Amino acid sequence: MNEFKKYIGQMENIAHGLSVIPRLEEEVFAEAALNGEVSRKYRTTVPLNSRREHGVFFTNEILAKKITHKFLLDFDRKSLIVDPACGTGNLLIECANKMPVGKTLSETLKIWSRHLSGFDIFPEFVRAAKARLILLAKVKTNQFDSNIKNFDKYFPLIRVQDFLNDSSGIEKASHIILNPPYNVLLAPDNFCWANKKISAASVFMDICISKAAVDSKIRAILPDVLRTGSSYRKWREHIASNVKKSDITIYGQFDNWTDVDVFTMRLQKSKHQKNLYKDIWGIPATSNTRLSDYFDVHVGPVVPHRDLKKGPMLAYIHARNADAWKEQKRISETRRFSGTVFSPPFVVIRRTSRPGDNRAIGTIIKGKRKVAIENHLLVLLPKKNTLGECRKVLKTLKSKATDDWLNERIRCRHLTVEAMKELPLGVKFHG
Ligand SMILES: C[S@@+](CC[C@H](N)C(=O)[O-])C[C@H]1O[C@@H](n2cnc3c(N)ncnc32)[C@H](O)[C@@H]1O
Repeated sequence: MNEFKKYIGQMENIAHGLSVIPRLEEEVFAEAALNGEVSRKYRTTVPLNSRREHGVFFTNEILAKKITHKFLLDFDRKSLIVDPACGTGNLLIECANKMPVGKTLSETLKIWSRHLSGFDIFPEFVRAAKARLILLAKVKTNQFDSNIKNFDKYFPLIRVQDFLNDSSGIEKASHIILNPPYNVLLAPDNFCWANKKISAASVFMDICISKAAVDSKIRAILPDVLRTGSSYRKWREHIASNVKKSDITIYGQFDNWTDVDVFTMRLQKSKHQKNLYKDIWGIPATSNTRLSDYFDVHVGPVVPHRDLKKGPMLAYIHARNADAWKEQKRISETRRFSGTVFSPPFVVIRRTSRPGDNRAIGTIIKGKRKVAIENHLLVLLPKKNTLGECRKVLKTLKSKATDDWLNERIRCRHLTVEAMKELPLGVKFHG
């Protein structure tokens, strides 16, 4: 962290015009600071667990460009752009890039200061964001030699603020842009759609959508679990009932160093409480028949390290002893378990798969004994209680259509109950 802070100090010196290095070197420094060097410095000097604690993962230039594309087409003198978790300003920089430039450096800084706002809990990030905007203004106006007097008068709306405790300022925004932290936190008391641990990203979006002025535009980079996870359904409903129009783009892995799949959202706050759930989150269906019409879907109840080995001795199936794509009658492993158990026939599916594997690898469980099922498996319990239904669904699971549909529906490698319930079964299933 110290090395990072030192780098910010250097950047501020150059931004303020106080450094003694030659102008050419300053320009090279500025170029790097505006193009990924700040993120690289942070990533390479701060350990991953510290970065995770507050969800500090800066947006790369490609994604920042994508999310700001056509965002400011309606920019006018009343526009206020707010990033409620601005970090070192990657998204604000992209916005500034699309804003008017004055005749001089100070004129440009005055314009940008009026229109740009951002919050972060870390003072050094706020300082970095301001310094980088000044560097960008210097590059754009080609006024590198100018000293900045009264540095503090610029960017008064970019400040240290904990958005989860104080969202003031967001209601004035005409444009909100965010890549919020994705760390997990306890749901605040007043969040009616959540009752336990949730992603901070969902809370940030909830606050933005609740407090934003009608017609304001919102662009967000969000973890895929919000789009697909069963526990975020109510959150999705809340978003869908507050927006006028919206579109979603599945992006994939956040960056080379961060194994989190993300999607981007463009929406506009609405006055009317019209629920657009299907329009916004709906997945194109290939048939009207869904897996949940024929099967109850559960998560395996056994959590090996948590559950005591008490209760009756039972056949025990888990991801490693379930034979992929087979019909399995003999389950040699047993364990005691006092929770919910299942009677065959049914299908178990591994919840995680490796890239290159089928997305939903299934096994049919037959026999007469009740079975305890581990938590890394999903259970498909046929409503008609027949082996025939299990065989039909296994074929569907193995098909390319299922892989394609799941890849579209859920990018993260963990299958969710909700996604499986929505799986289209195709017309052949009725036969
Ligand atoms: C995923 S990073 C994104 C930063 C920046 N918007 C970008 O795209 O590069 C999230 C940022 O949120 C900040 N943050 C975490 N908790 C916050 C809170 N309660 N209020 C405001 N900012 C917060 C972190 O310090 C971090 O800089």
